[in-house]
Amino acid sequence: MGANLQSVGITGLGAWVPEQVITNQNLMQTIDTSDEWIVTRTGISERRKAAAHEAVSDLGIRAARAALADAGIRAEELDLILVATITPDMLFPATACLIQQELGATGAAAFDLSAACSGFIYGLAVGSQFVATGMYRKVLVVATETMSKVVNWQDRNTCILFGDGAGAVVLQPVEEGWGLLSFDLGSDGTGADLLKLPAGGSRKPASLETVQNGEHYLTMNGNEVFKFAVKIMGDTALKCLQKAGLSTEEIDFFVPHQANTRIIEAAVKRLGLSNKKVYVNLDKYGNMSSASVPVALAEAVNKGFIKKGDLLVLVGFGAGLTWGSCVLKWSK
Ligand code: UT7
Repeated sequence: MGANLQSVGITGLGAWVPEQVITNQNLMQTIDTSDEWIVTRTGISERRKAAAHEAVSDLGIRAARAALADAGIRAEELDLILVATITPDMLFPATACLIQQELGATGAAAFDLSAACSGFIYGLAVGSQFVATGMYRKVLVVATETMSKVVNWQDRNTCILFGDGAGAVVLQPVEEGWGLLSFDLGSDGTGADLLKLPAGGSRKPASLETVQNGEHYLTMNGNEVFKFAVKIMGDTALKCLQKAGLSTEEIDFFVPHQANTRIIEAAVKRLGLSNKKVYVNLDKYGNMSSASVPVALAEAVNKGFIKKGDLLVLVGFGAGLTWGSCVLKWSK
């Protein structure tokens, strides 16, 4: 953080994924695909799926409770709840308000943020500003998605890729020089059509026709998103490191958005990192959009891959198009 600003760090971390596992073999029973195709093209073996009665706030609350427990604070102490999601319970009110109510976070402001798979990084950047300026002291950032509710399970181009899950962090003041050191955020709306959910908003309100045309399902130009992702992951990570005054050799651990192992491998190669410094879990969960990075971070911390003082780079990219990265010195 810059001069005269409070340093901000992650003081609590939590993740939760629904119980139901959908394997590649399961998908082979309903669409024309193979385990071999999915694994070699994406790296994904299975993904989680929320139950019919579970909404995105239900997942987010589980991750939020874990993050609050990890930080050792009560929900009533929170000043702000920020939820990054593209699969909200409903268009409004904000999912953040539903989580606020369920947690009993009576002192917290609450709003949602829509930046697709970059949502967690955007959420960290936005949430940390409130703490850095001294306006708030305890901010909860939740990234939660139920992608299974917006994919067309008959479309083999997309349904194999996505999964459901949630991650959450508590942001609080930390000692100078620790915590979040730099951010790089960006967008390119010329790519808005590459990955979208066409109907149900004000451009194309829900109608019998939109339902019949399948316009409430996610659509994606996979090849174009792939090209964008391969370039942007390295670009934004390098820019963010430069802002923090650090070189790639100083990175202890890299937690990338989990969309495709080939995209991650390209970024790792560009950054010249050893595979030992990279966390990959998309084989188990697929692409959980905004939740991918915090779930991966939580797993990496729980498995002991990340220890106090480590320099981490987190990177996300996705619909919008959007991208974002963050360099942090792990302070827990
Ligand atoms: O968070 C950001 C979100 N999205 C992404 O990051 C996605 C980025 N893109 C990708 O990961 C890749 O582009 C995909 C995994 C989506 C696709 O891989 P690809 O190597 O780019 O394959 P492709 O789209 O060029 O398709 C190759 C072939 C096609 O057949 P034809 O037209 O060559 O006969 C597809 O129809 O593979 C076919 N195909 C499949 N075959 C078996 C597409 N999906 C499947 C499938 N199983 N599930």
